[in-house]
Amino acid sequence: MDVVALVPAAGRGTRLGAGVPKALVPVLGESLLLRAVRGLLDSGSVHHVVVAAPPDQLGRMGRELAELGDRVQVVPGGDERTDSVRAALDAAERFVPTAEVVLVHDAARAFTPAEVVRAVVAEVAAGACAVVPVLPVADTVKRVDEDGTVLSTVDRSPLRAVQTPQAFTPEVLRDAYACSRDVATDDAGLVERAGHPVRTVPGHSHALKITTSFDLAVAETVLAPAHD
Ligand code: CTP
Ligand code: MG
Repeated sequence: MDVVALVPAAGRGTRLGAGVPKALVPVLGESLLLRAVRGLLDSGSVHHVVVAAPPDQLGRMGRELAELGDRVQVVPGGDERTDSVRAALDAAERFVPTAEVVLVHDAARAFTPAEVVRAVVAEVAAGACAVVPVLPVADTVKRVDEDGTVLSTVDRSPLRAVQTPQAFTPEVLRDAYACSRDVATDDAGLVERAGHPVRTVPGHSHALKITTSFDLAVAETVLAPAHD
């Protein structure tokens, strides 16, 4: 079963504030991008990767990934994450027209364990059309009004926090992107809105999205040493 992963890496990393696009930020000498893409390929479940890069960083990201060979292609991303995924999806249709599963995976989740990658692919192989890795919500959740006064405590037992990689059949992801021009932070959200069922599999704490300097410190002290 041919599997292609789309890796949106065209964000600016404003919240991290490293002065370079977040995907190029090194953790113990290796960029988040190289770690994320190699992690997908090394899982054994992903055969091709299409990376969406900032248009002014195409060459730099291509060089960053050169050691992984011709299974990886880099294309220009867009202003919003959805634009970047859309550009990668268009390229993947040309690059890997035989793909039976399409993953979407944030470059910023560079330490995702192989078992999570394998689990989402296996669920699509078993017949699901859309699959997301999830974790239970650890904190108590409150609904508040505009002034910040608590209105109620939400029952968190049915709530889940969503990670990537998310896996789809090509038809369903294409349909979701054809149905919507909305900006979404989560591809499964577009798939839901297009009316398709979305399954869940267990996520992993190491698949956290590196967003802030605190997350980067966790990556440097906990995730990368455990990974290497
Ligand atoms: N992304 C993208 N294209 C965009 C915006 C985001 O490909 N126009 C990617 C990022 O590179 C990242 C993933 O989507 O791998 C998740 O986005 P986020 O964590 O928000 O990264 P940034 O947008 O780079 O960070 P920030 O929002 O702090 O600027
Ligand atoms: Mg962002």
